[in-house]
Amino acid sequence: MNILVTGGAGFIGSHTLIELYQAGHTAVVVDNLSNSNPVALKRVAEILSIPAIPFYHVDIRDREGLEKVFAEHKFDACIHFAGLKAVGESVEKPWEYYENNIGGTLTLVDVMRMHGCKNIIFSSSATVYGDPAEIPITENCPKGQCTNPYGWTKSMLEQVLMDIQKADPGWNVVLLRYFNPVGAHPSGRIGENPNGIPNNLMPYITQVAVGKRKELGVFGNDYDTPDGTGVRDYIHVVDLAKAHVAALQCFSSKFQVPSSKSQPSTLNLKPSTIYNIGTGHGYSVLDMVKAFVRVNGADVPYSIKPRRAGDIATCYCNPAKAKAELGWEAKHGIDDMVRDSWNWQRNNPEGYPEP
Ligand code: NAD
Ligand code: UFG
Repeated sequence: MNILVTGGAGFIGSHTLIELYQAGHTAVVVDNLSNSNPVALKRVAEILSIPAIPFYHVDIRDREGLEKVFAEHKFDACIHFAGLKAVGESVEKPWEYYENNIGGTLTLVDVMRMHGCKNIIFSSSATVYGDPAEIPITENCPKGQCTNPYGWTKSMLEQVLMDIQKADPGWNVVLLRYFNPVGAHPSGRIGENPNGIPNNLMPYITQVAVGKRKELGVFGNDYDTPDGTGVRDYIHVVDLAKAHVAALQCFSSKFQVPSSKSQPSTLNLKPSTIYNIGTGHGYSVLDMVKAFVRVNGADVPYSIKPRRAGDIATCYCNPAKAKAELGWEAKHGIDDMVRDSWNWQRNNPEGYPEP
């Protein structure tokens, strides 16, 4: 298939490009580079030994810019990563988050349908479950109250896309709810490159280990978890990238749901739209720190800080649906995750160079 990858210069998008090409697909990237660096795309092409990844420096809110891309390419599907994702920033700048994420997606989807491309995989998040009603979280778990505008953009966009599919059965919408992506491509050439002080645990750990930050603050050790620190479902970004390739099969007219209890197994079935993408294992903050130190032999000083507003104690999924219906499951364990995160950070202490 030829895939439009919005946000393809970003962390998850760049890794997904590699898996797409290695599975025989081609891709065109649209990114406004608001949170990424085009060097990532150069390195993706190097890893793949191809001259370049077709790239448009276009904002998905720019209708004319998107029209030009669609005039020059025919797409079978879109994998839609583009969006702002910093939880804390979204609390400070809610308008910017709703306008970028929701406004951008509405424009994108409109241009897609004008050009007859009605297959979309959307980057959703475990955040839509709020404080989850059940652990491990299945796709049947009700959506919850998000604690920040970023989370609400994901929750609202899920609804927007499902309503569009309901109104026009020509659409095929797949919502992938990611748990906590970490790690990097094993080459160490691409990885997570946060701007400023990292919000997320793993880039914070790697920046402490490389000497850029003094110590990790562990946000709370009085949660109702085995060691008191927050538990999450960390997933290697390469496994997450492969989940997108697996999800493309939903767009084939032969897509079959092999063993779902919720839907009969018949040919030409409309794809069931929602998949949890995690490993099914929960690790605490201290589990991650200890694994990082054990596997990499690096030092990660930490101290216990107060809880972070909006955090929940435990969040991990049951990924059985993705395995049963897409034949996808995570293959990398915690040691691979901490090794590859460190390999990227060590080789690129300042992230990507200026283009
Ligand atoms: P990222 O910031 O590295 O990538 C997002 C990309 O989108 C960036 O390259 C950015 O420049 C681009 N972008 C943003 N707004 C744009 C716009 N208006 N037009 C064009 N490009 C735009 O983030 P990521 O970690 O790769 O996340 C990818 C997607 O997955 C996002 O939608 C994010 O919300 C979602 N997600 C991420 C996580 C996570 O922990 N990383 C978890 C759940 C869901
Ligand atoms: N943590 C620390 N110190 C830090 C950073 C994080 O102790 O410096 C702890 C948090 O309190 C939490 C765990 O590490 O217990 C994970 O925190 P992250 O910020 O890495 O991840 P979250 O689970 O809070 O959220 C992430 C993304 C969201 C996404 C969610 C589910 O930031 O966008 O995963 O996919 F929605």
